[in-house]
Amino acid sequence: MSPSTSTITAPEPLLQVRNLETWYGPVVAIQGINLEVPAGVVSTVLGANGAGKTTLLNTIAGVIDPFKGEVLFDGQAIHGKDADEVCRRGLVLIPEGRQVYPFLSVDDNLAMGAFARRDRTAIGHDLQRVRSWFPRLAERAHQHAGLLSGGEQQMLAIGRAYMSAPRMLLLDEPSLGLSPLLTHEIFSIITRISSETGIAMLVVEQNASIALRNAQTGHVLELGRIVASDTCEALLAKPDVQQAYLGMGLDTGLSGQTRWKRRKTWR
Ligand SMILES: Nc1ncnc2c1ncn2[C@@H]1O[C@H](COP(=O)(O)OP(=O)(O)OP(=O)(O)O)[C@@H](O)[C@H]1O
Ligand SMILES: [Mg+2]
Repeated sequence: MSPSTSTITAPEPLLQVRNLETWYGPVVAIQGINLEVPAGVVSTVLGANGAGKTTLLNTIAGVIDPFKGEVLFDGQAIHGKDADEVCRRGLVLIPEGRQVYPFLSVDDNLAMGAFARRDRTAIGHDLQRVRSWFPRLAERAHQHAGLLSGGEQQMLAIGRAYMSAPRMLLLDEPSLGLSPLLTHEIFSIITRISSETGIAMLVVEQNASIALRNAQTGHVLELGRIVASDTCEALLAKPDVQQAYLGMGLDTGLSGQTRWKRRKTWR
């Protein structure tokens, strides 16, 4: 076929979310959510407290059933499936607050990540890889996970998720409670793991600055709806994003304190 007659089709995104809606009893938490993440890409969802970030990730991961909408992973519908089934397919959630097993050692936590695998050689290889990304986990291999610092527990949560041989990770606020230095360290390892292994990442964050500087594509979630989706470069340049999430160009009142303006539209 000559180049002029050939059609180039873009590869199907690894994760596709279509018109997703989740309720808690009579309260709607997310509505009309559409987003896609291609294989190997780091994508972020930004949102303030209560915007619906955790609900979105939990719905994608099968922890909560959606009221309506679809979630496709590698072209297969996974909405309504149990969380362990979604995990076995290679879509793995790292929950808010890490949730490591506090009374198990660091190594046993990592082994728990690989419990469904039988490929012993590959498991050993992956363990070495985790230790190369996180030397601190190697140093504390026999220590109870509950005694690790918050940053080390986040490293362990990422390492444990990697040990399950995922194709995509869903990370719920990896920067929560961490110092700026540790937050930078965690994000640089997230992007390094993705570029070295091809694992796609969907990271939800309140820390817009660090998330937009590390991810490739981004979505802004407000009151359960996505109000902007673009490349992170384009989002960083949007005045609304700069004002609301990056604290730039803000009005300051007579008191010198920041006054947050309510936006009616997103530019
Ligand atoms: N189990 C629940 N029952 C009832 N309402 C809930 C439940 N969990 C969350 N909500 C509500 O759903 C909305 C979205 O909550 P969600 O936890 O998804 O937000 P979030 O963006 O993750 O917030 P945060 O930044 O504080 O983690 C909020 O209004 C919250 O009060
Ligand atoms: Mg949350």
